Amino acid sequence: MKFFVDTAEVDEIRELNALGLLDGVTTNPSLIMKSGRDIMEATREICAIVDGPVSAEVTAVDFDGMMGEAEILSKIADNICIKVPLTFDGLKACKALTSAGHKVNVTLCFSANQALLAAKAGATFISPFIGRLDDMAIDGMEVIAEIRKIYDNYGYATEILAASIRTVNHVKEAALIGADVATVPPATLRALVKHPLTDKGLDAFLADWQKTGQRIG
Ligand code: G3P
Repeated sequence: MKFFVDTAEVDEIRELNALGLLDGVTTNPSLIMKSGRDIMEATREICAIVDGPVSAEVTAVDFDGMMGEAEILSKIADNICIKVPLTFDGLKACKALTSAGHKVNVTLCFSANQALLAAKAGATFISPFIGRLDDMAIDGMEVIAEIRKIYDNYGYATEILAASIRTVNHVKEAALIGADVATVPPATLRALVKHPLTDKGLDAFLADWQKTGQRIG
């Protein structure tokens, strides 16, 4: 499974990338707002840190506007992936952009039927929002499973990018279902390494090692 980090915080991205954990980055207008950064400047820096795709989202809602913004965003770097919303204009822009050789992430997906349309429009990635479905008492993971089944039935190459991930269990369940990518907030990505028995075991090994009086090397 590929890991993308869901943030526009450049320092976080630099640190996680140095750990060798990152296959890409996703941003959105809310994450840009939280970072307090200029979208062009922050996205340029992120693209220089990470080799994989960096999703930058258009904010226009009409086809022409999306295409105009996509042209500007795509010039930032070769690893830009244009993010468009799951609307008819967004799907039309997706088709046009992928036909022209761009990577496209279709975002704000909340149903398997929406994901089917995105695949038919040639999307590189489809982003179903697990957490926001769970917030409404709809099983977000079930939607991921349905999309996996549909894409496998017809051999669609669109990658399932599990988004709106809130917990480490979301990551595990998405991986078990076979989502291609998880975009994970930095804190959740760091939490994946944690287990109390790992800490306890390490403490015990170190205590016993001290008793031997030895050192390696
Ligand atoms: O990148 C979009 C998505 O991951 C947003 O997550 O937590 O705002 O629902 P959230």
